[in-house]
Amino acid sequence: MNTPTRQKFVVGNWKMHSTTLEAEQLVNGVIHGLSVNNYVTVILCPPFPYLALVRDLLKGTQIALGAQNMYPEAEGAFTGEVSPTMLLDLGREYVILGHSERRHKLGESDSFINQKVECALAAGLNAILCVGETLEQRKANQTEAILDRQLTQGLANVPPEFLSQLSIAYEPVWAIGNALHHESPQQAHDALSLTRKKLSRICGEIRAQQMTLQYGGSVKPHNAAAFLGQPGLDGVLIGGASLKADQFVAIAKAAMGAMKAEVQPS
Ligand code: 13P
Repeated sequence: MNTPTRQKFVVGNWKMHSTTLEAEQLVNGVIHGLSVNNYVTVILCPPFPYLALVRDLLKGTQIALGAQNMYPEAEGAFTGEVSPTMLLDLGREYVILGHSERRHKLGESDSFINQKVECALAAGLNAILCVGETLEQRKANQTEAILDRQLTQGLANVPPEFLSQLSIAYEPVWAIGNALHHESPQQAHDALSLTRKKLSRICGEIRAQQMTLQYGGSVKPHNAAAFLGQPGLDGVLIGGASLKADQFVAIAKAAMGAMKAEVQPS
């Protein structure tokens, strides 16, 4: 039996969806479907208002809690924002930063995302930094340059000792919520290899090899195993399919299957 080098992540990003009742049903469905989750870190990221509810429902399970965003200050006059201290207080261990919807719909810059990464890691949160190119950038062969910029600037001045709390999610913008035009597992593999190469330049080969790299963009139960079977693809960040308990559970089970295949090759 081999020892897995990196855990697989299955992260549900609910985005701006759900009601109290839907949140309750969804979490209970996921808990029911995932009584065992060896080697796979399953994380639910509900909207802020459902944080305490989801935290309470997840008590006693192996499922972790994450936030979709935070402001890079511990406290202060920042109306409408949520601090890393508050997230920790509410029991969140993970936070998604730099999601393409925040970059492209809310205008977040690489330097602002960098402040968030530094602040989240220094506070003790585990951060999931999202990177990825738009369709125009891909068509213009700029994928490598975009990944380089987002990783270099996003991780600028992050102390090396905090990097074990960081994972990267490659989410090509055009593949998000686009079941008809999503990336192939092979393309995802190639982009993640490029990502790991860039990380190796930024933070050294050993840290780059230890880092969990996820893929996101229309991952569904029918294609999850193909993505998760790619070498170097350590997890999936799920949007739409995380809102249906049976679909999310099926994807998490595919991750467990991929991990088992790595640990016990036939
Ligand atoms: P979809 O799975 O709906 O494509 O969303 C991906 C995503 O943006 C997760 O953060």
